[in-house]
This record gives sequence, C-alpha cells and structure tokens, in this order.
Amino acid sequence: MKYTPINKSLYILNRANFVKELKPKSVAVFNSNDIMPTNADGSMPFRQNNDLLYLSGIDQEESILVICPNASNPKHREILFLKETSELIAIWEGVKLTKEQAFEQSGIETVYWTSEFDQIFHSLVYESEHIYLNQNEHLRASKIVETRDDRFRKSCQKKYTLHEYERLAPIMRKLRAIKSPLEIEMMQHACNITEKGVRRILKFVKPGVMEYEIEAEFTHEFLMNRSRGHAYEPIIASGFNACVLHYVENNKECKAGDVILMDVGAEYGNYASDLSRSIPVSGKFTPRQKEVYNAVLRVFRAASAMLVPGTDHETYHAKVGDVMEKELIGLGLLNKDEVAKQDPKNPLYKKYFMHGTSHHIGLDVHDVEIRNRPFEAGMVLTVEPGIYIREENLGIRIENDFLITNDGAPIDLMKNIPIEADEIEALMA
Ligand code: GLY
Ligand code: MN
Ligand code: MN
Repeated sequence: MKYTPINKSLYILNRANFVKELKPKSVAVFNSNDIMPTNADGSMPFRQNNDLLYLSGIDQEESILVICPNASNPKHREILFLKETSELIAIWEGVKLTKEQAFEQSGIETVYWTSEFDQIFHSLVYESEHIYLNQNEHLRASKIVETRDDRFRKSCQKKYTLHEYERLAPIMRKLRAIKSPLEIEMMQHACNITEKGVRRILKFVKPGVMEYEIEAEFTHEFLMNRSRGHAYEPIIASGFNACVLHYVENNKECKAGDVILMDVGAEYGNYASDLSRSIPVSGKFTPRQKEVYNAVLRVFRAASAMLVPGTDHETYHAKVGDVMEKELIGLGLLNKDEVAKQDPKNPLYKKYFMHGTSHHIGLDVHDVEIRNRPFEAGMVLTVEPGIYIREENLGIRIENDFLITNDGAPIDLMKNIPIEADEIEALMA
C-alpha cells in the first residue's frame, strides 16, 4: 500500500468500543473482501472490507478477525487469521504480512495462519451462545456478488445450527458514524490531496480540452500524493452532461461557454473525500451562469450552517429544500403562486434539485449510517446542493465535506479549496 498506516491505537480503541456492544458469551467474525477477478488471470485492485479494517487496520486479502471477549483462553479474545507467509512464499507470491507486522499494525497479539481457523473457531463457538456475523446492509448495496462474509455466513449457519445468530452491521454503522481524531486526520489528508487536484486543473482547463484529460490530471495529482486514486468514479461533465447525475463517461470535448461539473475526490489510506466544483470552460462565467452558481453557493452556506448536533436528517433536508425553493423562484425557474399551491410531499424544487443534500462519508464515500440518528459531534457529512437546468445545458453542484462539532459551526475539511466564483475565475485567468 502507498499510504502511511494509522497508529494501532485507533484499532485498539475501536475494538474496545466494539466489545461493549456485544452480548455476553459472544463470538464475532469479520472476513476480508475477495480480490475480484476480471478475465483470464486478471484481477481488480484489492479493496479491504471496511469493517475488518476499522477494527484491525489489516489491509490484506484472505484475513479473518475473530473477537470473543469471554474466551476462556485470554489469548483467544482477539485473533487475526492471515494468509500464510514465509521467505519461500514471499519469493513466489510477494510480500505478505508477517505475524509481527500484523501485530504492529493492529495491536492484536494472537496471529495465526488461516489454515488454523476451523479448529480454533470450533472451540470458541462451543464456549459461546451468540455468533455475530457480518453482512452488507447498506440500503443501496448491490447484492449480486457473493462476498467472503456471505459465504462464511452460509457455511457457519449450516454447521452450527443451535446457536443464536446476531448481526454485526447495526453495531458497525453505529460506531463508524463517529470519527475519531486519527480518522479525521486521514480524511483531512484526503481532502488536501483533492485540493491539489483542483488547483492543478484550474490552471489546465481551456476550451477544447477533453473531459477525460481533466480526469487524468486529477488522477496524476492523486497518485503523486500516495493516494490509491479516486475514492469513487469521477464525474467530469461539461455542458448538458452535468444534468445527467451519474454521468461517468467523461469522453466529451469541453466547449467554450459551457460549465463543467466535476464531482471528484481522492482516497487516502482507505478514507474518502468527496468534492464537487462547477467551473467555466472559458475561465469566466456568463452572468446567468454566475447567477445560478451564487444561488447554489447560498444554499450550500445555509445548509452547512445547519450541520449542528441534534438536528435530524429529514428535517435538515426539508429546511434546505425551503432555501432552495426561494432561490429557484429568484432565478425565475419556479413560480411563487404555483409553489404556494404545491403538494408538500412532492415539492416543485425537486425538478431542479432532485437528490439529497448530504450523506455520511468515511471509509465509504456513502458511509454506513443510521438514517434517523440525529447529528452528533464527530460525524462527517457532505453538503452538496445542486441546480440542474436541462433547458439551459447547465448543471451546477457545490460539495464540501464537514465535521460536526459541539462548538456550533461545523469544520469545513475543504475550506481551502477555491469556491467563490470570482476566486475560481481569478485562478483560471
Ligand atoms: N460523489 C458521490 C456523491 O457526491 O454522492
Ligand atoms: Mn457526495
Ligand atoms: Mn460527490
């Protein structure tokens, strides 16, 4: 991996918090993700399972984490099972973690090779009453591909039929929502790399440039800064393409007079950043583009000020909708009288602002969350209002990542990234 690993104190703390959530006499199992195949002997880059990572820092395939706080053998209260390595294996398969390195990274003293898993897990199961297993419970998760956790769940439930089974996902989404100082450092670092990308492309963009060339400039900057690359598929959408919310082709020419919507964020140490900026291809917004840009910016500012402890997500989004409604009336896109008569369940502003305002971000870009849990200090959320006007070939979104605090205003982790229309124009000149 390219990044500098996080101090193991984070994982020791995360496990201590995790254990408090378990019922007595429990054993919990986390499996790493698979390396996904492409064709022939090709494979996709490895991406670790975020729950296993959160509790261990182990960024290697074929790893298993077992936590059994009441195990009679104190050495078996936390165990890592790793793919076996030796000097000989290292020559053929490349360097994998040694037991000592795995301890250094995770703080877990007991490390075995995976060949020992079945026998040791068997003994822990018979000391336990509850078996906690993992499943991706993200509301929008694709379930087409079976994960290692899925396969393990099936085999475990078949083998041990009389135990009480419990879900890990509700615990993990509760814990992962609150970021600790070391995690915030990683996320700030990811945002700082994104900033470098933005500053690079503000000097690069001019009429005639291709959307993929802009993507390539970001990729270059990210990799030069020890990032694995993009935290998600980047959107570089010029002109009308910006009105296609999930446009990722990035293959069109950027034409003079158009605005380019860029939704792009660097990953660092498995943590995501998520930014959107909308910039003029020619380096200067038209008066109408600037008018729309500043309307989005005002909604962005109003929304970010609402990220305070105690607010719940639905109320927040509805209040942002009210602000957006006024801006859309001001822009001549909505009619005041029609708005007064609108169905409150289906407000008219959704024609121009059809997505959510915010989502949690962390190890996942759309991080795991408890949807109706009010905001708390330590949560990190995006703020990303947008106005998409198909008839004007114009889509503008502005997005930064914010840390909620107990001191009133949230901390903008992207506060150094140019956001004012004039500042963007000056940097592009
Ligand atoms: N980049 C994905 C999002 O903004 O939600
Ligand atoms: Mn986002
Ligand atoms: Mn985004």
